[in-house]
Amino acid sequence: MQKQLDRRAFLQAGAAIGLVAPIVAAGGGEPGGRAIRLGIIGVGGRGTYLMTVALGFEGVEVSAVCDIDASRVERAAGIVAKSRGRRPAGYSSGPLDYRRLLLREDVDAVLIATPLLLHAAMSVDALRARKHVLSEVAAAATMDDCCALVRAAEESPCLYMMAENCCYYRRNLMALEVVRKGLFGDLTYAECGYVHDCRAYVFNPDGSLTWRGEMARDMIGNLYPTHALGPVARWLGIHRGDRLVSLSASSSPPKGMDHYVAQKFPAGHPARMIQFAVGDTTTTLLRTARGAVIDLRYDTHSARPHPSTTYFTLQGTTASYKDDGVASQAWVEGRSRSYAWAPIEDLAADCEHPLWKQAGEQAAKTGHGGADYFVIAEFLDAIRTGRRSPVDAYDAAAWSCIIPLSAASLRAGGAPQEIPDFTRGAWKTTTPG
Ligand SMILES: NC(=O)c1ccc[n+]([C@@H]2O[C@H](COP(=O)([O-])OP(=O)(O)OC[C@H]3O[C@@H](n4cnc5c(N)ncnc54)[C@H](O)[C@@H]3O)[C@@H](O)[C@H]2O)c1
Repeated sequence: MQKQLDRRAFLQAGAAIGLVAPIVAAGGGEPGGRAIRLGIIGVGGRGTYLMTVALGFEGVEVSAVCDIDASRVERAAGIVAKSRGRRPAGYSSGPLDYRRLLLREDVDAVLIATPLLLHAAMSVDALRARKHVLSEVAAAATMDDCCALVRAAEESPCLYMMAENCCYYRRNLMALEVVRKGLFGDLTYAECGYVHDCRAYVFNPDGSLTWRGEMARDMIGNLYPTHALGPVARWLGIHRGDRLVSLSASSSPPKGMDHYVAQKFPAGHPARMIQFAVGDTTTTLLRTARGAVIDLRYDTHSARPHPSTTYFTLQGTTASYKDDGVASQAWVEGRSRSYAWAPIEDLAADCEHPLWKQAGEQAAKTGHGGADYFVIAEFLDAIRTGRRSPVDAYDAAAWSCIIPLSAASLRAGGAPQEIPDFTRGAWKTTTPG
């Protein structure tokens, strides 16, 4: 079983050590200047893949890689050496070794792809060490961590971006263009979900729990909200004129998970004794300041095939959109040829998003339908140009706080929970960007 640090022990150890990073100049990568030098923290499946996507860009170097598993560091270092002819430094001496990576002056930015519960503390440490941060989703899993992340991002001269790739799916960006052209009228309702049978990722081959399995055993609520909520938040203009104000959650028992365990492990196996806390489906109803309603579903333990892991619906006064994960259809008053659904691609001539117009062909060669390409491209571009983070700490906190607040609502029998205004009023005036 992987050596993974319990979250509480992780924070206590951090406090005891007291991370003191030297104050170095905030990361480089200015236009026409030197390369952006990356440190990769967590080189499992996702971190290694995103690193290879980043290596596909000019003006990117990987100076250091870190993982508690030395064999993964070795594998990642080999990939970098093959791509760039130079081996990066490796860090694999325990769960806090990433902090030595953060002390390096030849690291401008870090990509964090460790287990979800570690993202916030690592991001805060990195921002304090004056590194730009690209963090995998979700950004944080407690309210304290959401607030700490926002504070660290506000205090740091560096850029924080949450790597929410679903915001960059071609169809999701097309729908955003339809919204931006005002074709939806007033937006009233959205439905979205992350529904992905992930039971195969719950156990290690020896029957012990993976980090995903430990979360499912120990936590309740929506444990992975941002893939579904991110694109919807963009469409509704969350933090660009609107904000999430409250939620209430409801959950089914973990029957799909129990069924899987009974099939996978013989009677008497220790895995049969594990009580999973998280329900198969958790549905969260959210309300925005302007009155829109979002129905957000999370389900990673129900038996079902999954050609895609997300689905979406968007309703306005003059248009409607639906994406079942396989195809997207839209109807737009005054534009659609008849009172019937039609593929959103029919609107592509005037509704293709500029990112996809510019680099769609190149992007389509990377994972998640090209979305991973744009996550990296947008992060690099924001560092180089100094523009606003495409998915900043306010967005990351508001989309990620669904994890603790949906749990709080479940514990209170579905009672509504207030979602704090992480922007302290700036959501009213911030323009789209
Ligand atoms: N955006 C997406 O589409 C997408 C897809 C897959 C995973 N993810 C996210 O990426 C993250 C990683 O997922 P994964 O599937 O690669 O998991 P994984 O288990 O394959 O990789 C996590 C890695 O982090 C390492 N790690 C654990 N503790 C560490 C520490 N203290 N310091 C350094 N390394 C440590 C592990 O050894 C492992 O190699 C998760 O947060 C997951 O939610 C996102």
